[in-house]
Amino acid sequence: MPPQVLGSSEAVDGVSVDAVVVAVFKSGSGPVLSAGAKTLDDVLDGQLSEHLTHTGFKAKTAEVMLVPTLGRLQARTVVVAGLGEKELAGRTEVMRAAGSAARRLSDCATIASALHVEVPDADAVTGATEGFLLGSYKFTTYKSDPHPSKIERITMLGDPDGALIERGLATAEATILARDLTNEPADTIYPETLAERAREVADVGSLAFEVLDESELAERGFNGLIEVGKGSDKPPRLIVMHYKPAKPSGKLALVGKGITFDSGGLSIKPAGAMEPMKTDMGGAAAVIGAMSALGRLKPNIEVIGIVAAAENMVSGSSIKPGDVIRHYGGGTSEVLNTDAEGRLVLADALAYACEQSVDAVVNVATLTGAIMVALGPKATGLFSNDNDLRTELADAAERAGERVWPMPLYDDYVSDIESEIADIKNTGSRWGGAIKAGLFLRNFVADGVAWAHLDIAGPARIESAYDEVPKGGSGVATRTLIAWIEGRAS
Ligand code: BES
Ligand code: MN
Ligand code: ZN
Repeated sequence: MPPQVLGSSEAVDGVSVDAVVVAVFKSGSGPVLSAGAKTLDDVLDGQLSEHLTHTGFKAKTAEVMLVPTLGRLQARTVVVAGLGEKELAGRTEVMRAAGSAARRLSDCATIASALHVEVPDADAVTGATEGFLLGSYKFTTYKSDPHPSKIERITMLGDPDGALIERGLATAEATILARDLTNEPADTIYPETLAERAREVADVGSLAFEVLDESELAERGFNGLIEVGKGSDKPPRLIVMHYKPAKPSGKLALVGKGITFDSGGLSIKPAGAMEPMKTDMGGAAAVIGAMSALGRLKPNIEVIGIVAAAENMVSGSSIKPGDVIRHYGGGTSEVLNTDAEGRLVLADALAYACEQSVDAVVNVATLTGAIMVALGPKATGLFSNDNDLRTELADAAERAGERVWPMPLYDDYVSDIESEIADIKNTGSRWGGAIKAGLFLRNFVADGVAWAHLDIAGPARIESAYDEVPKGGSGVATRTLIAWIEGRAS
């Protein structure tokens, strides 16, 4: 269970908890204590500031130091957390600092935080809520002796607005759902069970729900899903979740890549590259996560969440290099590399999304190793056929505290994925691989539909913990999608 988060007007030096978290800002002349930190420093006879000086604390964003109070305060530990320069500190910095603090405080049951108090951004307490919840996340389902975070309760000082806390809870719990789905092994999360999980989420949030099984998919021509999925004993699914308020101001579609395991197929991956491939449904997890928050946040806009779920496996019935797929909607692709499977299932799902009279379509996918080469493990690549939509998503990511970076879709690279025998082929030369994957997807987006593609192959799974992100499935893009939807609704 994620910890409980409450607002309070108690004083920073009077609250009865295991640990108190206070902010320190960075400046040209060294760290500057926030009012809360100053109060605690006074109670500790100046030893807090002295300790910071001795240890060379810089107050960089999310830099955290634990200081024992040795009986001089109710709380046994004071946590000093850096927020960087005061003028630049906002929701994201508070979130990152809270996340770092939570990862260090997993042995404390109760925490009070004044991190957000001096940050002018009205959403700072939302960020603090997100950071504490996300930083205390651990996936312990399969541990005989689990050591979950002991954090039970977080008290937000300064009497904050409860609605701002509730928003943080909604976005963090959505991200946690996405992390849980991603961290489950492929043996428990495969297309059928992913659809069951999505159905549970839909039920809780009163969303309409529909799932197409393999025979319906074949009947209706979702051949990208059928072909990619046919090498597996676990048949593919198309999952559709639908949030519809009474008088919506518009309609959006989210599309997730749900490859529940990517062996590469006959173009098989080497063992090391295959190891993390249960994560290949990270896009689907983000879409399901975002949909889970809508029933709770109630934005006034219709949203349809579509997940293309299949398992990419090796067998006598696997799709073969050279095969041609006639996708949903009629477009064809030549499959030269069976490991470029994500774009094949997304082609169907994008064509389907474009039929739903939507104002915009955003897909999320662990699509290419090439985007990891370009942007590293902490950033998502953003591709779009529409400048306004690209800007909206970049802004939404910024508000949500996720790193998203714009990437080009150069028309003159299309020649590299032209096929002799079909409309397009699924791989070209290696260079610019993330862009060519984006161009492939664009081919299946109907004319006039604003579309964006988030390539999350890097940040979907994190190998070493930082800020609010523990090792493992990150739930990345869930919060960006929610922020984008809310921005569109207001
Ligand atoms: N799921 C992978 C992309 C991926 C790689 C995600 C590493 C996360 C971490 C995708 O299906 C894939 O295999 N892409 C190939 C495409 C290539 C064959 C054109 C790749 O990136 O190597
Ligand atoms: Mn692949
Ligand atoms: Zn894949």
